[in-house]
Amino acid sequence: METKRSSFTGKIGFVLAAAGSAVGLGNIWRFPYLAAKYGGGVFLLVYILLAITFGFSLMVAEIAIGRKTGKSAIGAFASLDKRYSFVGWLAAAVPMIILPYYSVIGGWVLKYFTGFVTGSASTMAADGYFGNYISTVSEPLLWFSIFLGATALVVLFGVEKGIEKVSKVMMPLLVALTLFIAIYTIVTMDGAWDGVKYYLMPDFSHFSIMTVVAAMGQLFYSMSLAMGIMITFGSYMKKDISIEKSVRQIEIFDTGIAFLAGLMIIPAVFAFSGGDQSALGQGPGLMFVTLPKIFEAMPGGTVIGALFFFMVILAALTSSISLMETIVSIFMDKAKVSRRVGCLIVLGLSILIGVPASIGYSAWSGVTILGMQFLDFFDFISNSIIMPIVAFATCIFVTFVTKPKGIIEEVELDQKFKQKKLFSVVIRFVAPVCILAILASSILSAFGIVKI
Ligand code: PHE
Repeated sequence: METKRSSFTGKIGFVLAAAGSAVGLGNIWRFPYLAAKYGGGVFLLVYILLAITFGFSLMVAEIAIGRKTGKSAIGAFASLDKRYSFVGWLAAAVPMIILPYYSVIGGWVLKYFTGFVTGSASTMAADGYFGNYISTVSEPLLWFSIFLGATALVVLFGVEKGIEKVSKVMMPLLVALTLFIAIYTIVTMDGAWDGVKYYLMPDFSHFSIMTVVAAMGQLFYSMSLAMGIMITFGSYMKKDISIEKSVRQIEIFDTGIAFLAGLMIIPAVFAFSGGDQSALGQGPGLMFVTLPKIFEAMPGGTVIGALFFFMVILAALTSSISLMETIVSIFMDKAKVSRRVGCLIVLGLSILIGVPASIGYSAWSGVTILGMQFLDFFDFISNSIIMPIVAFATCIFVTFVTKPKGIIEEVELDQKFKQKKLFSVVIRFVAPVCILAILASSILSAFGIVKI
């Protein structure tokens, strides 16, 4: 039984809470390294195109399904058509895979924050620091546990009010700081301008199928799509709030912050590497390597750095809380356990998956799956495999079960759905075809059958 489904305090409350979930490490940590690696300007272009068509449609569909049924993912799909309950289950698996490794990265951010606060900023800016740090065992594990523990505490004591409040203060500050750091880097550092060009001017010779694969995975991740989260959020949403407008706002927030994060990090990579393009392909460590160097070069950088990492921690926490809340509420609904037991189960599972993700860079660095380290593998399996499957199934579900009309009606309970044409075309034709193509290419490349 879904008793006492509380609502958000209103329009802004909903947008803030959903944006709190959407804006997180995905924007600040993941987006810049993917954009750097997969073509700069072309990646940005593909990402934005996907966000306004595909991301928009999928998010509208998910929120509408949630609000229509008043249930979270598993219940929502099952209550509209029993045959689709597996989609809900599959969607539910995603946050369970993401939360543990998300907490590992949250732990890295905590470490950097405390490093700045305790005055070791210059140590952290030294070459090779990040690589050395993650190849130790106990400290990353400690910070991982603290991050995960903090998330669990918030979830244990109830949730959405806190997220709204934190988001309200954190978002504007995060935007202001990111913008400031970006402008500072571009204006003061030699070579940064080349990075701006790389990031803003699409160069189609950098385009590959991987650009689209990565952009789409990132879109799911960043907008918290294809994992049941927006369905859950929708189930909390009041009927008189405009779904379409909210989605546009969340999307602008989310993409805007990712864009700024890229603008902050990519020019700096150019400035510090002296134009050496291989620095762009670093992957997950990019932000941790680049940011301390910027702060070191900046007057008052220690304070700004500490403040910045603090904002990133908040952004990461509001996201990890929504991840954990989603899983705990599934255990509460389906296994009929109390919130406390639910939290304990999820905590246990997260440790089980999170520890290998953390020590995959140190004690277990010799162990790889499909050539990937644990963290990268968890990231890959959720973003490039399960989420596309869920997104595909959601499109099919909307096409044949609710029909686009069912979603449009729900959206129009409040106001006219302005982009309903775009919505029905994307959800029925464009999205399913693109997703299938992408799914096929990421599976083939993971098994080394094709190289993309
Ligand atoms: N969207 C969040 C981010 O960009 C991550 C996240 C994924 C949060 C899934 C909740 C659910 O960091």
